[in-house]
Amino acid sequence: MNIAVGCDHAGFVLKSAVTDYLGQRPGVELLDFGTHSEDRVDYPDVALEVGRAVSDGRAACGVLLCGTGIGMAIAANKIGGVRAAACNDVESARMAKAHNDLNVIALGGRVIGTGQVPDILEAWLSTPFEGDRHLVRINKIAAAETATLSAELSSGGRVVVFNHPLVQHKVGIIRDKDTSVKEFRELVQEIAGLMVYEITRNLPLTEVRVETPLAVTTARTLEGKKLAILPVLRAGLGMVDGILQLVPNAKVGHIGLYRDPETLLPVEYYCKLPQDIEEREIFVLDPMLATGGSAAAAISLVKGRGGQKISLVCLIAAPEGIARVHEEHPEVDIFIAALDSHLNDHGYIVPGLGDAGDRLFGTK
Ligand code: RB5
Repeated sequence: MNIAVGCDHAGFVLKSAVTDYLGQRPGVELLDFGTHSEDRVDYPDVALEVGRAVSDGRAACGVLLCGTGIGMAIAANKIGGVRAAACNDVESARMAKAHNDLNVIALGGRVIGTGQVPDILEAWLSTPFEGDRHLVRINKIAAAETATLSAELSSGGRVVVFNHPLVQHKVGIIRDKDTSVKEFRELVQEIAGLMVYEITRNLPLTEVRVETPLAVTTARTLEGKKLAILPVLRAGLGMVDGILQLVPNAKVGHIGLYRDPETLLPVEYYCKLPQDIEEREIFVLDPMLATGGSAAAAISLVKGRGGQKISLVCLIAAPEGIARVHEEHPEVDIFIAALDSHLNDHGYIVPGLGDAGDRLFGTK
């Protein structure tokens, strides 16, 4: 288990007590984010680095040390997925894990002595999270966090994140690198199918007369709005059948783009759309919204062929990709099953799930 550790000048003396204690725990690898002396530093710089390491999975949890633990916790909590608190006594540390599943503990070098460090850390690390009603509560915090972020990212077009437990459960399984190609493929279709409920929420209904075995009544039926689903090749194909199961009359177009190795710009190599694309409600499918370059290019292509009402449906998105799509197509609604923290240097979403195309088709 990787544990991220960081301190400012006021927590520096406690830090060696922390690293000594953690260093002798079996299976622990320390990731040291500094600082390395008692020279003044700004605690947010360290707290944000440790928070990011926990958020993107480089570390399972983190320990932060400053004068009180308070500033470090406030700063670390700004990073998505971090639950940080100052715990300067054993009981707070124990309860913070049992009830709040605290993943970053902050200690105060001006509040406790080095001798108290082992007991506090032991209480935190060895106490299990109780789950159950406490899981419901921390899920509410996580949902509020995602809602805030997606509202910030929405600019005209909406960013809708599916927090439904079934969707979240299935996304958790497809993230796992050990999930088989077969299971991955099935789950991607299932998630896409579940997303249909939300992406079609605003389809117009009309009233029809229906004779039941008991009476004549008025029922509601889809107004005959035409849908088009347009997978971006090749990974978008993985979502098509899940959607068609629920909207079997939708027409399917295909968009093929590759990245020019010199210009790095997306280039069209295939595009076949339903003939009446200008009349259809369009869903562009691409499981991973990373840099947003190909999604934005795909939407431009569809607009160029007459497409008007376009939404983008993805499984996992990075904020960078959402920003890019909305920069070029501010009116487009973006539907996603999960909003991750960032892109790595190779343009992959972190924590993400790797290359969706390779995982769908077993090519790696
Ligand atoms: C530094 O003087 C001090 O403000 C800092 O270590 C911390 O206690 C902030 O919360």
